[in-house]
Parts: sequence; C-alpha cells; structure tokens
Amino acid sequence: MRTQVAIIGAGPAGLLLGHILRRARIGFVILEQRSREHVLGRIRAGVLEQGSIDILRGLGLDADLKAHGLTHHGIYLQYEGQRHHIDFLELVGRTVTVYGQQALVKHLLAEHDRLGADVRFEVDGIAPHDIDCDNPFVTTAEGERIDCEFIVGADGYHGVCRPSIPGVAALERDYPYAWLGIRAEVAPSTDDLIYALHPQGFAMHSMRSLEVSRLYLQVDPSESIDEWPDGRIWEQLQTRLGVEGWTLREGTITEKSITPMRSFVASTLEYGRLFLVGDAGHIVPPTGAKGLNSAIADVALLGRSLVGQYGGDTAMLARYSASALARQWKVQQFSQWMTEMLHVHRESPDEATRAFRYRSQIGQLEYTTGSRHAQAALAEQYAGLPF
Ligand code: FAD
Ligand code: DHB
Repeated sequence: MRTQVAIIGAGPAGLLLGHILRRARIGFVILEQRSREHVLGRIRAGVLEQGSIDILRGLGLDADLKAHGLTHHGIYLQYEGQRHHIDFLELVGRTVTVYGQQALVKHLLAEHDRLGADVRFEVDGIAPHDIDCDNPFVTTAEGERIDCEFIVGADGYHGVCRPSIPGVAALERDYPYAWLGIRAEVAPSTDDLIYALHPQGFAMHSMRSLEVSRLYLQVDPSESIDEWPDGRIWEQLQTRLGVEGWTLREGTITEKSITPMRSFVASTLEYGRLFLVGDAGHIVPPTGAKGLNSAIADVALLGRSLVGQYGGDTAMLARYSASALARQWKVQQFSQWMTEMLHVHRESPDEATRAFRYRSQIGQLEYTTGSRHAQAALAEQYAGLPF
C-alpha cells in the first residue's frame, strides 16, 4: 500500500490530524494497535481550552461539543476551608469547556467512519522504517508494508515512534503522588471545577455532564485501587472538598483508577520524515488540564505545516519541533507550578520541613487568589496560550 502520511496511533492526536489532512486532500492511514472498543472506552482528560475549541470548530468537528460541552468561566481554588473563584472571562476574556476526551475521540472516529477514512484497529507490531530517507515506510506484524512520504508518531508515551529516533533524549521528573480518579452517576455539586489543597491531600471536583461527576484524590503512587473501597473514596472527598454550608452529592461510582504523575519532554519532535505529536513527545501532570490540549496544539501546528509543505512552503515543517517545544515548555512550567502548589508533599521524613512546605503553599495560594495580577497569570495559562 502507498499513502502520503502514515499516522501511528488513534488517540485524539492521530484522529484529529487525519481530519486536517483530509480537508487538504492529503492521503493518510491511521494505524492503531488496540481495539476500537478499548480506544472508545478510555476516559482520561476533560477540559478543552478556547484554542482547542477554535481548532475543532474550524474543522467543522464541533457539533457534539456544541451540544454537550459545558462552558466554564473559571475555576475555584480552595484551601483552609475557603473557596476562591478565579474568573477567567473577567480576567482575560476567555473561557474553557468541559468536554470529555472520551466524547471527543468518539466524535472524531464517527466522522472518520462517516467519511470513509482508512482507520485500522488491532494492528500488531507496527514499526517505522527509513525515517531519515525520502521514502519511509511502516511495517506490521502481519507483513504488510505501507510506503509513505511522512510518518507521524501519535502513539502516546509508550509508543514505538519516539524510541525509533536515533539518540533521542528526554528531560523528565516523577512526582511522589498519584491521582485516584472516579466517574460517578451523580449531578455535579459545583458550577465550576474545584481544585483543593487539604492537609490530607489534593482533591478535585470536575464533571462530564449535568448528570455525571468526575472527581480526583491525591494518593500515594504505591497504593492499589483495591485499598480504596467506594466508602473510603467518598469519605476522603467529603473531607478534602468540604466547606461550611456546602455538601458534596454522592452517587454510584462507575469507574475508578489510579494514574501516576510525570513530566516528560523529548529532546526533539522530529527526525527526517518522522514527526511526533501529543503524549509521544511530552507528558504533563494533569493538574493544569494540559495533556489533551497540548496534543491538539501540536496537531494544529503539524497539520498546518504538512499542508504548507504539500503547497510548496517548507519553512513551517522545518520549524515544527522547535515551535512546538517552545510552547510545550511554557505548558510544562504551568503544569508543574499548579501541581506543586496544590499537592501535599510527604516525601521529607522531617515533620518541620513538611510543615514549612505546606505553609509556603498556603502563602502561594493566598497570593494567587489575592492578587489580580497573579489571578490573571493563572487564567491566561489555564484558558490556554496562543497556538
Ligand atoms: P494517547 O491518547 O495516548 O493515544 C495514543 C494512541 O496510540 C493510543 O490509542 C494507543 O493505543 C496507540 N498506540 C500506542 N502504541 C502504539 C503502537 N506501538 N502502535 C500503534 N498504536 C499505538 N490529561 C489531562 O489533561 N487530564 C486528565 O485528567 C488526564 N488523565 C489521564 C489519565 C490517563 C490514565 C492517561 C494515560 C492520560 C491522562 N491525561 C490527562 C493525558 C491525556 O489523556 C493525554 O495527554 C492525551 O490522551 C494525549 O493524546 P495522544 O493522542 O497524544 O495520546
Ligand atoms: C479534569 C482533569 C484534569 O486534569 C483537570 O485539571 C481538570 C479536569 C477532568 O477529567 O475533568
């Protein structure tokens, strides 16, 4: 088989890139190792920046988003039993939209199906070859060979594309905590998302719809989900999110899992005719809601660059990695800042060191919620840097 662009991975990044290429009449195939059901079943992220919404709207992919996305004007930061609203609309004139990654993937895939795109699932042993030549190709375990002009690694953190770049390095750090996330069949108890620092750990209240809540708790990365029966989860959420005069509604938990947290940036997002987008090139801890948005930002840039390339303008593609990484490092900084400000740091064996750290975080939160300039900086970054 021959095509112009072989996309590896049918997550949000790979599926969205396919739509950009299709509109420019550039041929592509999307190769995914997991099953369609598995890809559609992953819950993951939930907040879209204004810039992400604009990209989807520009591609005519916002029908479901318009029907089911929930526009939010800001977030709450909570500490010491007090909740403070940060109003993005008033501060920077922008909003964010709560719309689950699962719904986005479902819609992108349904549109590919409707338009007859070549999206293949359960393809084993996908491998890129000759990426430093003009005629790269992809092979599969079944012995198929796909010749192409470009290969895009949209295959996530554990994919095969990044490791195929000779000498690729990374800058990274782990965090000494993880997130336990639940999906619950209960109407959200809040209008905007709540991010809370509590002596027992971080907690967050998000949502998926007016009937479904999504909530998170800071846990130790070594903990197993079996140690967290539903009653214990609700008890901790009530404790950490509780403020006087407000109640958290409880409901049936339909999904629960623990996710470790990591910051990771590859040294390059390109090599010859291979380009990386999304989690294949970088990972952020989820506190700033940036993972999915960063994937969309990469895809918007790479999509434009490939369309330019086929139109005779090679300059953008030549700058892709440098441009995407420059934006990504700002996003990394913001995600790390939000994460460290809002989680309890238990790693020091020394009680006084832990107390100092916690008290400094309260100072940081008081400054952030008390200064209009600090609020605007948070709002500008949370609502999304320019693409
Ligand atoms: P992915 O969504 O990872 O898609 C990559 C695709 O490539 C997958 O379908 C995978 O099966 C496929 N693939 C992998 N290897 C191969 C291969 N060898 N061959 C073919 N296909 C392959 N972000 C937030 O902002 N908030 C959150 O709450 C949040 N929660 C998360 C929870 C979890 C468990 C994880 C893993 C991530 C979470 N993220 C969150 C991050 C966010 O979901 C990602 O940033 C986003 O999915 C990136 O999209 P992507 O398309 O680049 O990668
Ligand atoms: C959600 C996830 C995030 O990481 C975040 O910062 C906000 C919301 C969510 O899953 O809804």
